[in-house]
Amino acid sequence: MTKRVLFTGGSGKAGRHAVAWLLNAGYQVHNIDLVPLDLPGVTNLTVDITDSGQVFNALSMHTDFADLEHGKGVQPFDAVVHFAAVPRILIRPDNVTFQANVMGTYNVIEAAVKLGIRKIVIASSETTYGICFAEGHRDPHSLPFDEDYDVNPMDSYGLSKVVNEKTARAFAERTGADIYALRIGNVIEPHEYDRFPDFVARPETRLRNAWCYIDARDLGQIVHLCLEKSGLGYQVFNATNDTVTADVTTRALAERFFPGVPFHRDVEGDEALISNRKIREVLGFREEHNWRKYVKV
Ligand SMILES: NC(=O)c1ccc[n+]([C@@H]2O[C@H](COP(=O)([O-])OP(=O)(O)OC[C@H]3O[C@@H](n4cnc5c(N)ncnc54)[C@H](O)[C@@H]3O)[C@@H](O)[C@H]2O)c1
Repeated sequence: MTKRVLFTGGSGKAGRHAVAWLLNAGYQVHNIDLVPLDLPGVTNLTVDITDSGQVFNALSMHTDFADLEHGKGVQPFDAVVHFAAVPRILIRPDNVTFQANVMGTYNVIEAAVKLGIRKIVIASSETTYGICFAEGHRDPHSLPFDEDYDVNPMDSYGLSKVVNEKTARAFAERTGADIYALRIGNVIEPHEYDRFPDFVARPETRLRNAWCYIDARDLGQIVHLCLEKSGLGYQVFNATNDTVTADVTTRALAERFFPGVPFHRDVEGDEALISNRKIREVLGFREEHNWRKYVKV
């Protein structure tokens, strides 16, 4: 049976690749965003997710004129994927970033679970680990960054994502719904691989991302795997590709840029420091777009 997915923020950098992946996998996708996504097969509704009433409506109304034809009334969604957000600091004032992300996420999860939806995937962020938007240099407590790390960002955006994870957990506790939060690494679209030679030549420029990234198409696969999995309750998953963007080992990078920071477990070779071990082991993720496929160094 085709699964009906309501996707928030599907018009954005990450969302449009994940939406395309889901369409290819046979899902019906309804995008709610401030701007529509011009992609055949997607239906759109202009919605501001910071307004709870708009979100409840979007989840309980027709998606298209074609829905009028079968005469069966509004059809429910099977899942919600929530990507809409102010996607970093320094786009909007800090309080607006915090408020939009925290209330937007609360509104989306609340409406979804109250309307009986049992699967929700939300975009969290690498920034929860507190390095990306830290004031000055900041050492991690330990490495690598696994999902049980004590997240402690000091900026409004990273904090909004930590609060969103707590919101997700609270609704999962209350309702038993599956809510999976993806700590997404720096999203890379296909045309952006020309930046990688510089990433490798100047590793200091990638410290704040812990030399990690996620190919936008591989992120689509991760979202798909989350939708296919069920029964895990509340979960956090790092969403990154397998390796660091460097021509030295992960240990060598850490020794150079985070000297003295302990490793709580071994890392192999150039394994990602924001570890994707959990999505590989629990969801069966297999990356298709390692950067070395596109960049010769
Ligand atoms: N791009 C990255 O490297 C990255 C890394 C980690 C996490 N994330 C997260 O992934 C998600 C997608 O990021 P992106 O890079 O595609 O961002 P983006 O800004 O390209 O896309 C976000 C989309 O959300 C929509 N939106 C914003 N506010 C809205 C509102 N109030 N109501 C409805 N729609 C709204 C925007 O119109 C846009 O289409 C975000 O939650 C972001 O925080 C992104």
